[in-house]
Amino acid sequence: MNMRKNIVAGNWKMNTTVPEGVKLASEVNEALKGVTPKCDVVIGVPFTHLTAVKAVIDSEKLGLSAENCADKVKGAYTGEVSAAMVASTGANYVILGHSERRAYYHETVEILAEKVKLALENGLKVIFCIGEVLEEREANKQNEVVAAQLASVFGLTAEEFANIILAYEPVWAIGTGKTATDDQAEEIHAFIRSLIAEKYGEQVAEDTTILYGGSCKPSNAKALFAKPNVDGGLIGGASLDAESFMGIVTAF
Ligand code: 13P
Repeated sequence: MNMRKNIVAGNWKMNTTVPEGVKLASEVNEALKGVTPKCDVVIGVPFTHLTAVKAVIDSEKLGLSAENCADKVKGAYTGEVSAAMVASTGANYVILGHSERRAYYHETVEILAEKVKLALENGLKVIFCIGEVLEEREANKQNEVVAAQLASVFGLTAEEFANIILAYEPVWAIGTGKTATDDQAEEIHAFIRSLIAEKYGEQVAEDTTILYGGSCKPSNAKALFAKPNVDGGLIGGASLDAESFMGIVTAF
C-alpha cells in the first residue's frame, strides 16, 4: 500500500509580526473549513509565533512547523531555541536545512544531522530542504549536490527516516520568480527517490514525500503537482497571502 502523503507547507521565513501572523493563520484556518484538500496543509512560522498561532488553528486540519531548531539539547546557548522547546508549543514539524540557513548561518551537513536527530527525538517531523545553487545547476552538478546534502538524513534508521519529508528547492528558483519547469522538478525528484531506494529500499522510497519549493504559485502548482514524483510544495512568498496559499493547496 502506498502511504505517500501529499503536503503543501508554507514557509513564512522572517515575515509578519505576531498579530499579523495570527491574522494570516486565522485566515488560512478559516479558508480550510470550507474545503477538504487532497493534501496535508502545514504552515511554518517564526519561533515567536508558534504558541499564538497554535491557539487559533484547528490542528486536525492545519499542521504547525517551526523554521529551525538548535543543534544542542539545552543550556548555555544564548538566543537558541531547542527542538524540545519547539515541540512544547504544540508544533508538529520543523523545517531544517533551508538554503538560507545553509548560506547565511553556515549550517553544515554535520550540524544539520544533529538538528535532525534532536527534532526526531522530540517527536517533530522534519521538512528537510536540499537543492543546488545556480552555478552548480549550470555545471550540471545538481545530482551530486543533493546526494551530498542527503548525508544529514541518510544516517537515520528506516524507522526514523519515515518522519522525514524532503523538499527539493533549487536555490536559483527561490524568491526569484524563476521556477524550475515541471520536467526539471520531476527529473531530480525521481533521482532523489532513487537514492532513497538505494539506501532504504523501494518501499521506503515510495512512501517518502518529496516537495518542490521555489517560486511555486497558484498558476504553476497544478503542473508541478501533476508530476508523479512531486508530492506537493514548500511555499515561501505565496504563503504570506491566505488566498494565494489556498490556491496552491487546492491545486491538487
Ligand atoms: P519562494 O516560494 O518565495 O520562492 O520561497 C521558496 C522557499 O524558500 C520555501 O522554503
